[in-house]
Amino acid sequence: MSGASADDTMIRDPLDFSGKRVFVVGGSSGIGNGIARRFLDQGAEVHVCGTRAAASDYRPEDGDLSGLCYAQLDVTDRGALATFRPAFDQLDVLVLSQGTVVYNRGEFEPEGWDRVMAVNLDSVMACATRFKSMLAEQRGSLIILSSVVAIATARGNPAYAASKAGAKHLTATLGEAWAAEGIRVNGIAPGLVHTKMTSVTMDNPRRAAAAVQGIPLGRAAEPAEMGGVALFLASPLASYIIGETIVVDGGYTLAR
Ligand SMILES: NC(=O)c1ccc[n+]([C@@H]2O[C@H](COP(=O)([O-])OP(=O)(O)OC[C@H]3O[C@@H](n4cnc5c(N)ncnc54)[C@H](OP(=O)(O)O)[C@@H]3O)[C@@H](O)[C@H]2O)c1
Repeated sequence: MSGASADDTMIRDPLDFSGKRVFVVGGSSGIGNGIARRFLDQGAEVHVCGTRAAASDYRPEDGDLSGLCYAQLDVTDRGALATFRPAFDQLDVLVLSQGTVVYNRGEFEPEGWDRVMAVNLDSVMACATRFKSMLAEQRGSLIILSSVVAIATARGNPAYAASKAGAKHLTATLGEAWAAEGIRVNGIAPGLVHTKMTSVTMDNPRRAAAAVQGIPLGRAAEPAEMGGVALFLASPLASYIIGETIVVDGGYTLAR
């Protein structure tokens, strides 16, 4: 779909994903789940993965897995990624929404640094290359989740900030490298989104108020609001966009 010409948008609804296969890494929870559900609503067959054994191991408040095909996959495990047998034989859209953060200054220690870089950057490249040939077959679309801290900073989380800057630059570099093979690589840089990753802030009224104060729109985003951007990027409406990362932050970076 993403490799379609501008003329195709005249023939079919550009946001109709029926017949398309979508795989969302990190789709078990939060932003990835919000994105997965948007594609499901638009008719796609949607597969997601997370670290837990079964879909029933997730709390409904973390993500709604109904209608999604769930698989367990730890994307930091190179062996598991190499031998992973997906339940789809065609891939039109790959969304990489895996992510982690270590609080309490743990990212200033080697273990915390290594853990965050492994999930937020190394696994992004590993997943992109693992599924590249399937995306090329479909002239598909790859969407990488980075963060506004790829542009701004996160003084308590050096690994998170550096990994996200790396993910954003990887988006641009893969965009250039794989365009000739028909794969469009683009990204989303969210600001503050209500998920289990940010519950440490959002569940504390004082911290939540302080965080929201810096956002011109005056609120955090919901995961589904990232989903609309992902639909656009994967659709023929974005057929000439390559290597871009769209900031979706309610104006947070404008106000810094
Ligand atoms: N929330 C925000 O404000 C915000 C802002 C900017 C960017 N982001 C980025 O958006 C993405 C999604 O984050 P989120 O807020 O939605 O957090 P989340 O709800 O914690 O979701 C993170 C997802 O990544 C998966 N994951 C983590 N480690 C993994 C591994 N080793 N292998 C496979 N999957 C793994 C998690 O699976 P399990 O649940 O099984 O661990 C979960 O599905 C991340 O890249 C994050 O950095 C979030």
